[in-house]
Amino acid sequence: MALNLDAVGKKLGPVTRDYTWKDVVLYALGVGAGFSNLEYCYEKDLKVIPSFSIAAIFEFLTKIALETELNLAGLLHAEQELIFHNPIPTEGTLKTEGQVTDIYDKGDKGAIIVGQSETWHSNGEKLFTSIITLFARFDGGFGGKNAPKNEVVIPDRQPDIEVEDQTSEDQPLIYRLSGDVNPLHVDKDFAKMAGFEKPILHGLCTHGFACRLLIDNLVPGQPEKARRMACRFSRPLMPGDPIRLQIWKESDGQALWRVVNPKTGDTVIDLGVFEYGDIPKDEVRFDDRVAVITGAGGGLGRTYALQLAARGAKVVVNDLGGSRDGSSKGSSSAADKVVEEIKAAGGEAVANYDNVATPEGGQAIIQSALDAFGTVDILINNAGILRDKSFVKMEPENWQAVLDVHLHGAYHVTRPAFKVMKEKGYGRILMTTSAAGLYGNFGQTNYSSAKMALVGFMNTLKIEGAKYDVKVNTIAPIAASRLTEDIMPPDIFEKMDPEFVSAMALYLCSERCPVNGSIYNAGMGFFNRAGLVTGPGAVLDGGDKDFPSAEDIRDNFTRISSLKNGREYWQLNDQVGDVLTALTAPPQADGGETEAAAETPAGAGSVSDYFDSMPDHFVKDAAAGVDVVFNFIISGGGGGEWHCVVKDQTCTVNQGAADQATCTIKMGDTDFLDMMAGKLPPMQAFSSGKLVIEGDVMKSQLIEKIFKQ
Ligand code: NAI
Repeated sequence: MALNLDAVGKKLGPVTRDYTWKDVVLYALGVGAGFSNLEYCYEKDLKVIPSFSIAAIFEFLTKIALETELNLAGLLHAEQELIFHNPIPTEGTLKTEGQVTDIYDKGDKGAIIVGQSETWHSNGEKLFTSIITLFARFDGGFGGKNAPKNEVVIPDRQPDIEVEDQTSEDQPLIYRLSGDVNPLHVDKDFAKMAGFEKPILHGLCTHGFACRLLIDNLVPGQPEKARRMACRFSRPLMPGDPIRLQIWKESDGQALWRVVNPKTGDTVIDLGVFEYGDIPKDEVRFDDRVAVITGAGGGLGRTYALQLAARGAKVVVNDLGGSRDGSSKGSSSAADKVVEEIKAAGGEAVANYDNVATPEGGQAIIQSALDAFGTVDILINNAGILRDKSFVKMEPENWQAVLDVHLHGAYHVTRPAFKVMKEKGYGRILMTTSAAGLYGNFGQTNYSSAKMALVGFMNTLKIEGAKYDVKVNTIAPIAASRLTEDIMPPDIFEKMDPEFVSAMALYLCSERCPVNGSIYNAGMGFFNRAGLVTGPGAVLDGGDKDFPSAEDIRDNFTRISSLKNGREYWQLNDQVGDVLTALTAPPQADGGETEAAAETPAGAGSVSDYFDSMPDHFVKDAAAGVDVVFNFIISGGGGGEWHCVVKDQTCTVNQGAADQATCTIKMGDTDFLDMMAGKLPPMQAFSSGKLVIEGDVMKSQLIEKIFKQ
């Protein structure tokens, strides 16, 4: 059967895998660790050998092979590269997604299949990237391009370090328990059928030995310093054979390596690269992400482009190069200059000069990202013009031109980008609104309308994108640019460097962005969130009349207008739900001054009040992918039992304990209320024994994340 060449680019996963410290130790024992590496084998101060990562995603790796429909009889693991972004925790849940990135043809020698995947931990951190190369011996000759050459050259000199270790006769029996249960490594008859005298050692087991020894010799006791490990598998090793690891130190933080079987002189693993050093902690990075920024030839867009590129993104710099009011013909020089700046700083970028204000222009902008970089992950709708006039003087052409660039422009570019993002299951879109739209500004009815319409656009697109991990947010910047130079007083203008804005734009476009459908003001170092808050309102049934009258509205206007205990809604249905609830149980709000009440948590006077209001504390965005049941057993006079089910970004709370809970939280009633009021930190409660957690302790930590105080 021929290879399925359509497998290239198709999203695979997510595949999730729960693991505990026992899996970590089992892997370590499988790759030869023991008392001499107790840090990998004892749950006290346990560390994880970084190559555990590849064993932990074994199920995902088989998906890559299966998707291409290769002939399994000819399958060999040819090369493996691992890039570590964060140290691997000793327990948790891994989520892996990826795709087949290339299929190469080596004629009658076979085919080369390359798959890339990213793995995230349940703590939200991206842990590692795996690039696997499979050799499909019987699948070549389909007329495809040849594979690029591996550029690694092992030096022609004695190694700087040589160390030996010993595999045991039983090594594959232990290693296979970490995931790869291929009978080739355990069953004599099967091994004979495959052309081997006896079961062979897993190539990834030898790889694990090498990883452990590389760390022992280059960063002793600090597996968290492994940054990248790549190699090519050459020959199998037999269980019981010795291992010799040869290391050549190349530069600070980089070594080349090879594994040799000292008994036969055979090279078992070749062309090894190991990079080590401190992993920059918690840096917001965009490596391998493709970003499109409209209107990036100057002002804010230019700053976004430079900073995204500096943090690893490949950037499409779009700019028509027109005048401030969009009336003059465009020039390519603005976009070209920014591309030059990015390249001079070592980044990757291409220019695009299309007009966002037409459907063809929008399509062409996204096409230039696909042509240059193969995809689009980030879109910042930033292009803008101004045509300010007081309302009576606002002629239709000035009204239209501004809507065309800001609102229709965002539609034209977002539509083709969203299609790509939805298909790949990832995307970040940023709309650019303005304080003029959010709050109003004299002489800008056209601009305010367009800018506020973008908020409406976001409100619905965020819902359509949510299940594909496409997040849509909005920034309201204040920055020095040609749009503001004659509006702001010179002394304030000087303090409005666009770099004060770009930090927020970048965070909202990052993988770790925690929000979807939010608006942030950013400028001059001041950041805050703007939201649409809806008050609890009042139900007026008109008394003995059929309908409430204008006088009823007048008499209850304070209550109707109050935003005290107001709410932000995720979508229309939520608001309609509240209306229906209010109609069945009218609230007794006393009205009061307008307040930013969204930040005020609903009152929780007793334990039972807390559980009644628990769904109000639920942070839907933080619960993406969470599927848990929490039992709460609260002792004391005010206590009781409740369970909370979080699934598909919804939360339901009911009395009584569930039969099968992910974890059970046990506390006294007063401690519980103190903790919920923020007076008793959860960690302190746990370490002092006031909080007892049974079941999956890791998942219990989600409570803090998905319920705001
Ligand atoms: P800017 O004028 O420096 O940048 C806008 C860029 O968009 C220009 O380079 C322009 O050539 C480009 N552009 C205009 N029409 C285009 C079209 N049809 N197709 C492609 N490119 C086009 O202005 P600035 O200040 O950097 O503005 C960026 C965005 O931020 C705009 O959407 C603006 O409305 C918004 N904004 C800016 C504020 C500020 O304080 N600078 C305040 C609130 C919002």
